[in-house]
Amino acid sequence: MTAASHDAEFPVARPRRLRRGPALRRLVAETRVLPENLILPMFVKEGLTEPVAISSMPGQVQHTRDSLRKAAREAVEAGVGGLMLFGIPEHKDSVGSQADDPDGVVQVALRDLADEVGDDIVVMADLCLCEYTDHGHCGPLEQDGHVNNDLTLERYASIAVAQAQAGAAVVAPSGMMDGQVGAIRAGLDRAGFPHVPILAYAAKYASVFYGPFREAAEGAPQFGDRSGYQQDPANVRESLREVALDVAEGADMVMVKPGLAYLDVVAKVAETSPVPVSAYQVSGEYAMIEAAAEKGWLDRERAILETLTSYRRAGAEQILTYWATEAARLLR
Ligand code: PBG
Repeated sequence: MTAASHDAEFPVARPRRLRRGPALRRLVAETRVLPENLILPMFVKEGLTEPVAISSMPGQVQHTRDSLRKAAREAVEAGVGGLMLFGIPEHKDSVGSQADDPDGVVQVALRDLADEVGDDIVVMADLCLCEYTDHGHCGPLEQDGHVNNDLTLERYASIAVAQAQAGAAVVAPSGMMDGQVGAIRAGLDRAGFPHVPILAYAAKYASVFYGPFREAAEGAPQFGDRSGYQQDPANVRESLREVALDVAEGADMVMVKPGLAYLDVVAKVAETSPVPVSAYQVSGEYAMIEAAAEKGWLDRERAILETLTSYRRAGAEQILTYWATEAARLLR
């Protein structure tokens, strides 16, 4: 023993005491990820007879109606809190007619899910047009190629009603049009769905990390990009404004997307939001970890749990993650 170690003055504090052994660490952990806070995004494609693997998202598939039901049931059994459904129609056109067709792929799948798991998990529908338009943008276009904001609002209100009629427990507009939450709220209320909550993709950035999703949902823009409606990654004040607007328009929950590269935004939104705050661990985040793990460069399960813990620590209360079912099992 050296003199220093007997010196009562130094170190003054020993934070390591509470790190000595798993039992102590568990007792003092500040953050926990719970299966019920996880939301599983799922893809269902019209006309499939077999699930189709998504090559840029190893382990994820475009579902058939049957495989969707089965995967939904597995999520329920693992204790996952919610599902977020994306549909891929066989036929696309300039206004995305299939998005609000009562027999469109997502409406059919919503009825299946409401029937199969509707009492056990929150079945949510992503509400956007990019998977349904032939040009791949999130709403009908003007002559010059910009998305026509107010025409898009009418489409979104109609889609919300179709989704609610099909059994969606929550609708989640992701198109970043101005006024979308208010237009959807009014549409739902008029159609007799005042009880259906809106989870608003409130702060959604024009991100490179959506790359693999374009293969999954087949909704890549055929020209240009989404920077005319999604946010500039450079901005954070703008996100607080978007959240405030969405809440004023009637958002019941708000989302920040992507998550990992935007945890500062999640933290700021969580500090002031009067409604629950969700965050989306997007396709590119999934792909990065899967790819590194496949090369043996990262411990996959630890990477999944560590990133989910970081989301919770930053203040996200619900986390959308493609690992939801697996993570829920690991957490139990
Ligand atoms: C559609 C939508 C996108 C994602 C969710 N909803 C793609 C986009 O905005 O370009 C991305 C999800 C992911 O990358 O996992 N508006």
